[in-house]
Amino acid sequence: MYSLEAVMTLIDKEGFPEDVKNVLVDIAGKLLSKMNILIRDLNIEDKYLKEAITHILGRGKFIRGIFSYIVSSALGASEDDAVILAVSSEFYHTASLIHDDIIDKADVRRGVETVHKKFGLERAIIAGDVLVIYPNYLLARLGGEVIKTLAEAGLKLCDGEAQELLYTNDTENVDLQTYNKIVYKKTASFFEHIMKAVALISNKRELYDVLGRLGKYLGIAFQYRDDMLDIIGDSQLMGKPTGSDVNKPNLVTVLMIQYKINLNEALEKAYSLVAWYVDNALKIIESLPFSRRDSQLLTILTKSLSKRVV
Ligand code: IPE
Ligand code: IPE
Ligand code: MG
Ligand code: MG
Repeated sequence: MYSLEAVMTLIDKEGFPEDVKNVLVDIAGKLLSKMNILIRDLNIEDKYLKEAITHILGRGKFIRGIFSYIVSSALGASEDDAVILAVSSEFYHTASLIHDDIIDKADVRRGVETVHKKFGLERAIIAGDVLVIYPNYLLARLGGEVIKTLAEAGLKLCDGEAQELLYTNDTENVDLQTYNKIVYKKTASFFEHIMKAVALISNKRELYDVLGRLGKYLGIAFQYRDDMLDIIGDSQLMGKPTGSDVNKPNLVTVLMIQYKINLNEALEKAYSLVAWYVDNALKIIESLPFSRRDSQLLTILTKSLSKRVV
Protein backbone atom coordinates (compact mmCIF):
# COMPACT_ATOMS: atom_id res chain seq x y z
CA MET A 1 0.00 0.00 0.00
CA TYR A 2 2.80 2.40 0.89
CA SER A 3 6.30 2.48 -0.37
CA LEU A 4 9.41 3.68 1.39
CA GLU A 5 9.93 6.19 -1.36
CA ALA A 6 8.27 9.16 0.33
CA VAL A 7 10.05 8.84 3.63
CA MET A 8 13.34 8.01 1.88
CA THR A 9 13.23 11.22 -0.10
CA LEU A 10 12.77 13.11 3.14
CA ILE A 11 15.57 11.31 4.92
CA ASP A 12 17.86 11.98 1.97
CA LYS A 13 17.24 15.70 2.11
CA GLU A 14 18.64 16.12 5.61
CA GLY A 15 22.19 15.08 4.72
CA PHE A 16 22.49 12.45 7.47
CA PRO A 17 25.60 10.26 7.60
CA GLU A 18 25.17 6.96 5.78
CA ASP A 19 24.90 4.79 8.92
CA VAL A 20 22.24 7.07 10.42
CA LYS A 21 20.36 7.04 7.14
CA ASN A 22 20.37 3.26 7.15
CA VAL A 23 18.99 3.10 10.68
CA LEU A 24 16.25 5.59 9.82
CA VAL A 25 15.29 3.76 6.65
CA ASP A 26 15.14 0.54 8.62
CA ILE A 27 12.85 2.08 11.26
CA ALA A 28 10.66 3.78 8.67
CA GLY A 29 10.34 0.46 6.86
CA LYS A 30 9.21 -1.26 10.05
CA LEU A 31 6.63 1.41 10.77
CA LEU A 32 5.35 1.39 7.21
CA SER A 33 4.91 -2.35 7.06
CA LYS A 34 3.05 -2.35 10.38
CA MET A 35 0.84 0.47 9.08
CA ASN A 36 0.06 -1.59 5.99
CA ILE A 37 -0.96 -4.59 8.07
CA LEU A 38 -3.04 -2.56 10.48
CA ILE A 39 -4.90 -0.73 7.74
CA ARG A 40 -5.46 -3.96 5.85
CA ASP A 41 -6.98 -5.47 9.01
CA LEU A 42 -9.28 -2.52 9.50
CA ASN A 43 -12.75 -3.80 8.78
CA ILE A 44 -14.12 -0.97 6.66
CA GLU A 45 -16.50 -1.75 3.84
CA ASP A 46 -16.79 1.71 2.37
CA LYS A 47 -14.24 1.67 -0.42
CA TYR A 48 -13.71 5.41 -0.46
CA LEU A 49 -13.22 5.69 3.26
CA LYS A 50 -10.26 3.33 3.23
CA GLU A 51 -8.80 5.23 0.30
CA ALA A 52 -9.32 8.50 2.15
CA ILE A 53 -7.61 7.12 5.25
CA THR A 54 -4.59 5.87 3.33
CA HIS A 55 -4.27 8.78 0.92
CA ILE A 56 -1.62 10.70 2.90
CA LEU A 57 -0.92 8.20 5.68
CA GLY A 58 2.38 6.69 4.60
CA ARG A 59 3.81 9.83 3.08
CA GLY A 60 4.99 11.80 6.13
CA LYS A 61 8.43 12.16 7.66
CA PHE A 62 7.50 9.99 10.65
CA ILE A 63 9.40 12.29 13.02
CA ARG A 64 7.12 11.47 15.94
CA GLY A 65 7.09 7.75 15.19
CA ILE A 66 10.85 7.61 14.69
CA PHE A 67 11.66 9.45 17.94
CA SER A 68 9.11 7.34 19.76
CA TYR A 69 10.51 4.09 18.39
CA ILE A 70 14.17 4.97 19.03
CA VAL A 71 13.64 6.12 22.61
CA SER A 72 11.35 3.17 23.41
CA SER A 73 13.87 0.68 22.06
CA ALA A 74 16.75 2.47 23.75
CA LEU A 75 14.96 2.18 27.09
CA GLY A 76 14.20 -1.51 26.70
CA ALA A 77 10.58 -1.57 25.55
CA SER A 78 9.60 -4.68 23.60
CA GLU A 79 9.81 -4.43 19.83
CA ASP A 80 6.05 -4.92 19.43
CA ASP A 81 5.19 -2.24 21.97
CA ALA A 82 7.70 0.21 20.49
CA VAL A 83 6.26 -0.27 17.01
CA ILE A 84 2.61 -0.04 18.04
CA LEU A 85 3.17 3.17 20.00
CA ALA A 86 5.12 4.71 17.12
CA VAL A 87 2.53 3.73 14.52
CA SER A 88 -0.35 4.87 16.72
CA SER A 89 1.36 8.23 17.15
CA GLU A 90 1.61 8.59 13.39
CA PHE A 91 -2.08 7.65 13.01
CA TYR A 92 -3.12 10.29 15.55
CA HIS A 93 -0.83 12.84 13.96
CA THR A 94 -2.16 12.14 10.47
CA ALA A 95 -5.72 12.53 11.77
CA SER A 96 -4.79 15.95 13.13
CA LEU A 97 -3.36 16.92 9.73
CA ILE A 98 -6.45 15.78 7.83
CA HIS A 99 -8.60 17.92 10.09
CA ASP A 100 -6.05 20.76 10.19
CA ASP A 101 -6.13 20.94 6.39
CA ILE A 102 -9.90 21.32 6.49
CA ILE A 103 -9.54 24.10 9.07
CA ASP A 104 -6.73 25.81 7.12
CA LYS A 105 -8.46 25.25 3.78
CA ALA A 106 -5.23 23.73 2.45
CA ASP A 107 -5.09 22.05 -0.95
CA VAL A 108 -1.80 20.15 -0.71
CA ARG A 109 -0.35 17.89 1.98
CA ARG A 110 2.61 15.53 1.82
CA GLY A 111 2.99 16.31 -1.86
CA VAL A 112 -0.52 15.28 -2.85
CA GLU A 113 -4.00 16.75 -2.76
CA THR A 114 -5.39 17.09 0.76
CA VAL A 115 -7.87 14.42 1.81
CA HIS A 116 -10.88 16.76 1.81
CA LYS A 117 -9.98 18.08 -1.63
CA LYS A 118 -9.79 14.62 -3.10
CA PHE A 119 -12.50 12.78 -1.19
CA GLY A 120 -14.77 15.58 -0.02
CA LEU A 121 -15.23 17.20 3.36
CA GLU A 122 -17.51 14.50 4.70
CA ARG A 123 -15.17 11.56 4.12
CA ALA A 124 -12.16 13.60 5.26
CA ILE A 125 -13.85 14.26 8.59
CA ILE A 126 -14.69 10.57 8.99
CA ALA A 127 -11.18 9.49 7.86
CA GLY A 128 -9.68 11.75 10.54
CA ASP A 129 -12.06 10.27 13.10
CA VAL A 130 -10.99 6.73 12.19
CA LEU A 131 -7.34 7.68 12.67
CA VAL A 132 -8.08 9.11 16.12
CA ILE A 133 -10.12 6.12 17.24
CA TYR A 134 -8.00 3.30 15.83
CA PRO A 135 -4.94 4.10 18.01
CA ASN A 136 -7.09 3.79 21.14
CA TYR A 137 -8.12 0.35 19.99
CA LEU A 138 -4.51 -0.59 19.20
CA LEU A 139 -3.06 0.84 22.39
CA ALA A 140 -5.58 -0.86 24.65
CA ARG A 141 -3.17 -3.74 25.22
CA LEU A 142 -0.53 -1.31 26.49
CA GLY A 143 -2.86 -0.17 29.24
CA GLY A 144 -5.17 2.67 30.17
CA GLU A 145 -2.38 4.96 31.28
CA VAL A 146 -0.81 4.99 27.82
CA ILE A 147 -4.15 5.81 26.23
CA LYS A 148 -4.79 8.46 28.86
CA THR A 149 -1.50 10.26 28.34
CA LEU A 150 -2.02 10.42 24.55
CA ALA A 151 -5.64 11.48 25.05
CA GLU A 152 -4.39 14.36 27.22
CA ALA A 153 -2.26 15.49 24.31
CA GLY A 154 -5.23 15.17 21.96
CA LEU A 155 -7.31 17.42 24.19
CA LYS A 156 -4.54 20.02 24.31
CA LEU A 157 -4.12 19.80 20.53
CA CYS A 158 -7.81 20.53 19.96
CA ASP A 159 -7.63 23.49 22.33
CA GLY A 160 -4.51 24.79 20.53
CA GLU A 161 -6.14 24.49 17.12
CA ALA A 162 -9.23 26.25 18.45
CA GLN A 163 -7.24 29.06 20.10
CA GLU A 164 -5.37 29.63 16.87
CA LEU A 165 -8.69 30.36 15.18
CA LEU A 166 -9.07 33.43 17.36
CA TYR A 167 -6.06 34.94 15.63
CA THR A 168 -6.62 33.84 12.07
CA ASN A 169 -6.70 37.05 10.03
CA ASP A 170 -5.79 38.94 13.19
CA THR A 171 -2.09 38.15 13.43
CA GLU A 172 -1.26 41.70 14.58
CA ASN A 173 -2.75 40.94 17.96
CA VAL A 174 -0.79 37.83 18.96
CA ASP A 175 1.95 38.41 21.51
CA LEU A 176 4.78 35.93 22.00
CA GLN A 177 3.36 34.56 25.22
CA THR A 178 -0.02 33.80 23.65
CA TYR A 179 1.66 32.35 20.62
CA ASN A 180 3.87 30.07 22.72
CA LYS A 181 0.81 28.74 24.48
CA ILE A 182 -0.69 27.84 21.11
CA VAL A 183 2.55 26.19 19.93
CA TYR A 184 2.68 24.14 23.10
CA LYS A 185 -0.93 23.06 22.83
CA LYS A 186 -1.22 22.35 19.14
CA THR A 187 2.18 20.69 18.56
CA ALA A 188 4.59 20.34 21.49
CA SER A 189 2.13 18.68 23.87
CA PHE A 190 1.81 15.76 21.49
CA PHE A 191 5.58 15.22 21.40
CA GLU A 192 5.60 15.59 25.20
CA HIS A 193 2.92 12.98 25.76
CA ILE A 194 4.35 10.52 23.24
CA MET A 195 7.56 10.62 25.27
CA LYS A 196 5.60 10.15 28.50
CA ALA A 197 3.93 7.13 26.91
CA VAL A 198 7.42 5.86 26.01
CA ALA A 199 8.35 6.01 29.72
CA LEU A 200 5.29 3.91 30.50
CA ILE A 201 5.80 1.21 27.88
CA SER A 202 9.50 0.97 28.75
CA ASN A 203 8.71 0.54 32.44
CA LYS A 204 10.75 3.61 33.28
CA ARG A 205 8.26 5.57 35.33
CA GLU A 206 11.07 7.46 37.02
CA LEU A 207 11.76 9.04 33.61
CA TYR A 208 8.14 10.09 32.94
CA ASP A 209 8.69 13.79 33.66
CA VAL A 210 12.12 14.14 32.13
CA LEU A 211 11.04 12.35 28.95
CA GLY A 212 7.98 14.59 28.84
CA ARG A 213 10.29 17.60 29.02
CA LEU A 214 12.44 16.19 26.23
CA GLY A 215 9.35 15.75 24.04
CA LYS A 216 8.14 19.25 24.82
CA TYR A 217 11.46 20.85 23.81
CA LEU A 218 11.60 18.76 20.63
CA GLY A 219 8.03 19.76 19.82
CA ILE A 220 8.57 23.48 20.35
CA ALA A 221 11.74 23.41 18.24
CA PHE A 222 9.84 21.46 15.61
CA GLN A 223 6.92 23.90 15.35
CA TYR A 224 9.21 26.96 15.46
CA ARG A 225 11.22 25.55 12.58
CA ASP A 226 7.97 24.75 10.75
CA ASP A 227 7.03 28.43 11.11
CA MET A 228 10.41 29.50 9.72
CA LEU A 229 9.98 27.10 6.80
CA ASP A 230 6.61 28.64 6.07
CA ILE A 231 8.65 31.70 5.10
CA ILE A 232 12.01 30.41 3.88
CA GLY A 233 11.05 26.85 2.91
CA ASP A 234 10.46 25.25 -0.45
CA SER A 235 6.84 24.15 -0.76
CA GLN A 236 7.76 21.52 -3.34
CA LEU A 237 10.22 19.90 -0.95
CA MET A 238 7.92 20.18 2.02
CA GLY A 239 4.92 18.88 0.13
CA LYS A 240 2.66 21.57 1.53
CA PRO A 241 2.01 25.24 0.77
CA THR A 242 4.24 27.94 2.26
CA GLY A 243 3.43 31.58 2.92
CA SER A 244 0.32 31.00 5.00
CA ASP A 245 1.61 33.41 7.67
CA VAL A 246 -0.25 36.28 6.05
CA ASN A 247 -3.41 35.22 7.80
CA LYS A 248 -2.17 32.76 10.43
CA PRO A 249 -0.03 33.48 13.48
CA ASN A 250 3.60 32.54 12.82
CA LEU A 251 6.62 32.80 15.13
CA VAL A 252 8.52 35.04 12.73
CA THR A 253 5.73 37.60 12.29
CA VAL A 254 4.99 37.50 16.01
CA LEU A 255 8.67 38.33 16.68
CA MET A 256 8.61 41.16 14.12
CA ILE A 257 5.67 42.75 15.88
CA GLN A 258 6.77 42.04 19.43
CA TYR A 259 10.32 43.40 19.01
CA LYS A 260 9.64 45.86 16.17
CA ILE A 261 12.28 44.20 14.01
CA ASN A 262 12.48 43.44 10.31
CA LEU A 263 12.03 40.05 8.65
CA ASN A 264 15.72 39.12 8.59
CA GLU A 265 16.21 40.03 12.23
CA ALA A 266 13.12 38.05 13.15
CA LEU A 267 14.36 35.02 11.21
CA GLU A 268 17.68 35.21 13.07
CA LYS A 269 15.90 35.46 16.38
CA ALA A 270 13.63 32.56 15.46
CA TYR A 271 16.70 30.51 14.57
CA SER A 272 18.30 31.20 17.94
CA LEU A 273 15.07 30.23 19.72
CA VAL A 274 14.98 26.94 17.82
CA ALA A 275 18.64 26.40 18.75
CA TRP A 276 17.86 27.07 22.43
CA TYR A 277 15.21 24.35 22.54
CA VAL A 278 17.39 21.96 20.55
CA ASP A 279 20.30 22.56 22.98
CA ASN A 280 18.11 21.87 25.96
CA ALA A 281 16.76 18.71 24.37
CA LEU A 282 20.37 17.62 23.75
CA LYS A 283 21.24 18.19 27.41
CA ILE A 284 18.38 15.93 28.43
CA ILE A 285 19.46 13.26 25.94
CA GLU A 286 22.96 13.36 27.44
CA SER A 287 21.53 12.85 30.92
CA LEU A 288 19.44 9.80 30.00
CA PRO A 289 20.61 6.21 30.41
CA PHE A 290 21.13 5.51 26.70
CA SER A 291 23.87 3.47 25.12
CA ARG A 292 26.51 5.49 23.29
CA ARG A 293 25.05 4.47 19.96
CA ASP A 294 21.46 5.42 20.81
CA SER A 295 22.62 8.67 22.31
CA GLN A 296 24.58 9.53 19.18
CA LEU A 297 21.64 8.70 16.94
CA LEU A 298 19.24 10.83 18.99
CA THR A 299 21.76 13.66 19.08
CA ILE A 300 22.09 13.71 15.29
CA LEU A 301 18.33 13.57 14.82
CA THR A 302 17.70 16.31 17.38
CA LYS A 303 20.35 18.58 15.91
CA SER A 304 18.75 18.17 12.49
CA LEU A 305 15.58 19.84 13.80
CA SER A 306 17.21 23.26 13.83
CA LYS A 307 18.21 23.24 10.18
CA ARG A 308 15.75 20.86 8.63
CA VAL A 309 14.40 21.76 5.20
CA VAL A 310 11.58 19.22 5.10
C1 IPE B 1 3.26 19.03 10.32
O1 IPE B 1 3.97 18.00 10.93
C2 IPE B 1 2.45 19.74 11.34
C3 IPE B 1 3.23 20.43 12.37
C4 IPE B 1 3.06 20.21 13.63
C5 IPE B 1 4.20 21.42 12.00
P1 IPE B 1 5.12 17.23 10.16
O2 IPE B 1 6.04 18.21 9.53
O3 IPE B 1 5.71 16.24 11.07
O4 IPE B 1 4.31 16.51 9.00
P2 IPE B 1 4.58 15.14 8.28
O5 IPE B 1 4.04 14.09 9.18
O6 IPE B 1 6.03 14.97 8.02
O7 IPE B 1 3.79 15.26 7.02
C1 IPE C 1 0.02 22.29 13.04
O1 IPE C 1 -0.55 23.37 12.55
C2 IPE C 1 -0.87 21.14 12.78
C3 IPE C 1 -1.41 20.49 13.97
C4 IPE C 1 -0.92 20.54 15.15
C5 IPE C 1 -2.61 19.69 13.74
P1 IPE C 1 -0.19 24.09 11.18
O2 IPE C 1 -1.45 24.46 10.51
O3 IPE C 1 0.77 25.17 11.51
O4 IPE C 1 0.59 22.97 10.38
P2 IPE C 1 0.79 22.85 8.83
O5 IPE C 1 1.65 23.98 8.39
O6 IPE C 1 -0.56 22.86 8.20
O7 IPE C 1 1.50 21.54 8.64
MG1 MG D 1 -3.38 24.91 11.29
MG1 MG E 1 -2.22 23.82 8.60
